[in-house]
Amino acid sequence: MTTHPYSKGKVIRGNCLEILPKMKEKFDLIISDPPYQSGFTDSFELIKSKLNTNGQILWFVQPTELYDLPERPKQILVWKEPYSPKPIRKKYREFLDLIAWYAYGDYVFNKLLWNLMNSVFEDVVIRDKRIHKWEKPITLMERLVLVHANPKQKVLEPFMGSDNLADVCLTHNRYFTGIHL
Ligand SMILES: C[S@@+](CC[C@H](N)C(=O)[O-])C[C@H]1O[C@@H](n2cnc3c(N)ncnc32)[C@H](O)[C@@H]1O
Repeated sequence: MTTHPYSKGKVIRGNCLEILPKMKEKFDLIISDPPYQSGFTDSFELIKSKLNTNGQILWFVQPTELYDLPERPKQILVWKEPYSPKPIRKKYREFLDLIAWYAYGDYVFNKLLWNLMNSVFEDVVIRDKRIHKWEKPITLMERLVLVHANPKQKVLEPFMGSDNLADVCLTHNRYFTGIHL
């Protein structure tokens, strides 16, 4: 396990399922976006054990994976992805990611402008080329961080892809830790 403290926070290289049990640190907000349909919902309890009192988890899932989450979320948020022309056989194409939101105790909930507080998000990745195949739009990550964590609180991304969440945390003065395979 190697740790790279860098200007955007702390990035640890390795498998989060091996690293998290050894970590003593706890977090106020965990944004978990594992690879789809990969059985990572099994790691819910491990990830939840890294929460501070009053902490929160935002867990990205495909609609059918919702049934595999061991705990009922407080609310389901929806990220409606841009349409894809890719062919698909014998199945409907899914244009959405669900975000299962778990909030414990006296959790942080900072209201933004009213038009940003709907539970269906339609943010898009704005670049000429994606940095990471599954990266989430930076504006989506920004809303989630601003609403669910206060400045100086600690944010964990156990399944890191791009630097988007790290960048958002740096911009908005939240402490970021990411785990990256
Ligand atoms: C859906 S992507 C996350 C995308 C990220 N939310 C973003 O906005 O860029 C899932 C990431 O988890 C990583 N990953 C898969 N298994 C992992 C593991 N056991 N530990 C840490 N990272 C893992 C993959 O390499 C991939 O980069």
